[in-house]
Amino acid sequence: LTKRDVVRKIIGSLRLPRRDEGEGYANTNLALCKYWGKRDEELNLPATSSLSVSLTGFGSRTRVSVREGRDRVELNGKPVPPASAFARRLQDFLDLFRPEPSVGFVVQTENQMPTGAGLASSASGFASLVLALNDLFGWGLTGRELSILARLGSGSASRSVYDGFVIWHAGSSSDGMDSYAEPLSHRWPELRVGVLIVRAETKGIGSREGMRRTARSSPYYTSWLEKCRGDLDLLLGAIASRDFAVLGRVSESNALAMHAAALAAWPPVLYLRGASLGGVQKVWRLRGEGHPVYFSMDAGPNLKLLFLDRLSERIRAEFPGVRIVRPFPD
Ligand code: DP6
Repeated sequence: LTKRDVVRKIIGSLRLPRRDEGEGYANTNLALCKYWGKRDEELNLPATSSLSVSLTGFGSRTRVSVREGRDRVELNGKPVPPASAFARRLQDFLDLFRPEPSVGFVVQTENQMPTGAGLASSASGFASLVLALNDLFGWGLTGRELSILARLGSGSASRSVYDGFVIWHAGSSSDGMDSYAEPLSHRWPELRVGVLIVRAETKGIGSREGMRRTARSSPYYTSWLEKCRGDLDLLLGAIASRDFAVLGRVSESNALAMHAAALAAWPPVLYLRGASLGGVQKVWRLRGEGHPVYFSMDAGPNLKLLFLDRLSERIRAEFPGVRIVRPFPD
C-alpha cells in the first residue's frame, strides 16, 4: 500500500479548495515512551505504541494556499530553496493532495522553536500542515483521520494533532487505519518540561535513518521493542495515579534504552554531545541531592527535563537558558 491509497481512503477524490487560504497550529511533542522502529517505512507505521506530552507554545503555525505553478515554501518568513531536503520532503507530501499536476501550494510556516535542533519540529510542522490543508479544502476530517494523515508526513506528527498526554496506537493492519493517536483525558497541571538547547557542530543522523540502522543491526532492537511495551503500561499507570517518580524514572530509562539500542547499531547512531552528557550528570547529581528531576532526549543533542512546578526555581538556577514549558496551562 502507498500513501496515496491511504489518502484516497480518507478524503476520496481530490478537488480544488473551497477557500483561498487554510491555517493550522500544532505543538511539538515529547515522547515519554518513544517511537523508534517501523513495521512499515512507507506509511510510517510504528513497531510499538508510544506516548507523548505536547509542548505548549513550542509549535508551528502553517498557512497554505494554492496557485498555478511550482510550490513555494517559506519558513519563518524566508523562502526555502526548492532543491533543499526540507522543501523536497514537503513537496513529496503535498503531491498526495494535489488535485491537478499544475496546482502548486504556497506553504508558510512559522516555528516557535529552533528547526533541526532535535525538537521534533517535523512533528508540529506536518501536524500543522495537515490541519491547514483540512481548513483549506474543507474536508471536515475527524481527529483520527487528521492523525493518520499527519503520520504519513512524519510518524511523531500523528501525536501532535492533540495537546496534553497523547497515545499513538501502533495498530496491526497493513493499511494503518488502526494506527492513530488519541488524547488521554488526564491532566497534570504541575508537570513541567524544561527544554535545554545544546548546539551541535555537525548535523546529526535523521530519525528515519537512525531507526533503520537500529532495526537492521542493533543486537538490542528486539529487547528495546519489548521494553517499550512494558514502559507504556507503567507510564499510563503513573499518569492515572499522578505518580511523578514512576513517570520520571520510566521516561528517562525509556530514552536511555532507545539511545543504547541506537548506539549499538552499525554504523553507530549517537545523538548525544559532550554538553548533553554534562546535563545528564547534573540531573543525576540533583536527584542524588533529593530533587526529583528526570530527563529525556530524542534524535538530537538537546535535553528535556521533567519535573514538577515546585522545582522550577531550582531548575532555572541550575540550567541557565532553560525554557520551561507548562504542558497543561490553566
Ligand atoms: C526520537 O517522527 O521524526 O523523536 O516517522 O521517520 O519522520 P519519521 O520519524 P520521526 O521520529 C521521532 C523519533 C523520536 C521519538 C518519538 O518522537 O517518539
